[in-house]
Amino acid sequence: MRKILITGGAGFIGSHLVRRFVKRYPHYEIYNLDKLTYAGNLENLSDIENAPHYHFIKADIVDGEKMLELFREYNFDAVIHLAAESHVDRSIDNPMEFIMTNVVGTVNLLNAARAIWKGNQERKRFYHVSTDEVYGSLHDSGAFTETTPYAPHSPYSASKASSDHFVRAYHDTYGLPMVISNCSNNYGPNQFPEKLIPLFIHNIKHGKPLPVYGQGLNVRDWLYVEDHAEAIDTIFHQGKDGETYNIGGNNEWKNIDLIKKLIEIMDKKLGRPEGSSLSLITYVTDRAGHDLRYAIDASKLKDDLRWEPHMKFTEGFEKTVDWYLANEKWLENVTSGSYQEYYKKMYDHR
Ligand code: NAD
Ligand code: DAU
Repeated sequence: MRKILITGGAGFIGSHLVRRFVKRYPHYEIYNLDKLTYAGNLENLSDIENAPHYHFIKADIVDGEKMLELFREYNFDAVIHLAAESHVDRSIDNPMEFIMTNVVGTVNLLNAARAIWKGNQERKRFYHVSTDEVYGSLHDSGAFTETTPYAPHSPYSASKASSDHFVRAYHDTYGLPMVISNCSNNYGPNQFPEKLIPLFIHNIKHGKPLPVYGQGLNVRDWLYVEDHAEAIDTIFHQGKDGETYNIGGNNEWKNIDLIKKLIEIMDKKLGRPEGSSLSLITYVTDRAGHDLRYAIDASKLKDDLRWEPHMKFTEGFEKTVDWYLANEKWLENVTSGSYQEYYKKMYDHR
C-alpha cells in the first residue's frame, strides 16, 4: 500500500490527476489536500469522491505546522505537488499571494517531507509539478530544453521558478528524493474561466467581447489536460531521481489563430452564421511583461520514458467546447459571486 498525497487536487489539472490515480491504482491510498480557493472545486471530483481509497483534506499549505502534523499523522510515501496560485494576471495584481502559496507553501511541504522521511527515504518521492514559464520567453524559433536557463518574467513564473529551485536545493543539500516536470499550457474540461480558452468559450456563448491582449500574436503550446495527467503518472512511476522533464503538446498556436478556430467551432455548434462571433474580438491593452512565445522540446521525456501526447488537437478542442456547453451549471456556479468582481477588476481598465 502506498500513501500518495496530491496537493491542489480540486483544481483543474489536479482533479484530472486525482481521478486518474483513484481509478488506476486501487491499491494506493490517495489523499487530496486542497485549500479550496476560488480555483478549487470539489464538484470536479464528484464521480470518485466515494471511492474507499480516496480521502479529502481541507488545508492550507502556507500553514507549516499543519503540514508537519499531517505528514506525522498519515506518513505519506510520496507527494505530487500541484497546489498553487496559477493565473498570471492575478499575480500581476497581487504578487504576495503567489509568494506565500507557491514559494512558502512548497517549502513547508519540503520541510514536512524532510522531517518525516529522515533516515528512511527509500521509495519516497517529492514530485513538483511546474511550468514552462520559468524559462522565460522565446522569439520565433527554438524551444525550451531542461537545461535552458531560468528567466521568469511574471510574479507567477518567478514564484514557480523559486519553488523549483527550492525543490532541487532540498535534493542536493538534504538528499530529498524528487522529480520536477515543466509543462506547457493545458486545456480541457474543468479549467477555471479566467484562462484564455474557457473564458472565451463563455464569452462567445453569451455574446460578450473577447479581450485579446496586445495584437494576439503571442504563441502558446497547448496540451490536453488528460495527456498531462498521463505524463505526470509516467514520470511519477518511472522518472529518475533528481531529474527534470519537460512536457509539451507539439502544438503551437498564435493566440489570434486559436481564437478564430474557437469562433469557427462555436458558431457551428451554436447554430450561428459562420464567422458571426468574429465581431466580438476586441484588442485590449497588453498584459504587462507578456511572454511572446513558449515552445517545448520534450525529447528527453520521449527518449527516456517513451511518453508522447496522444490527443489530436482538433479532437481535444471539440471535446473541450462540448464539455463547457454541456456543463452550463458548472460554469454558472464558478462564475457567480466573486468572479463578477474579478472580471470587472481585470478587464474594466483595459
Ligand atoms: P488551478 O488554479 O486550477 O488549481 C490550483 C489548486 O490549488 C486549486 O484547487 C486551489 O484551491 C489549490 N490551492 C491554491 N492555493 C492553495 C493553498 N495555499 N493550499 C492548498 N491548496 C491551494 O491550477 P492548475 O491550472 O490546475 O495548475 C496546477 C499546477 O500545475 C500548478 O502548480 C501550476 O503552476 C501547474 N501548471 C499549470 C499549467 C496550466 O496550463 N494550467 C501548465 C503547467 C503547469
Ligand atoms: O505555460 C504554462 C502556463 O500556462 C501555466 O503555468 C499557467 O498556470 C497557465 O495559466 C498558463 O499561462 P498563460 O498566461 O499562458 O495562460 P492564459 O490562459 O492566461 O493566457 C494564454 C494566452 O492568452 C496568453 O498569451 C495571454 C492571452 N490572453 C489571456 C487572457 C486571459 C488574452 O489575450 N486575453 C485574455 O483575456
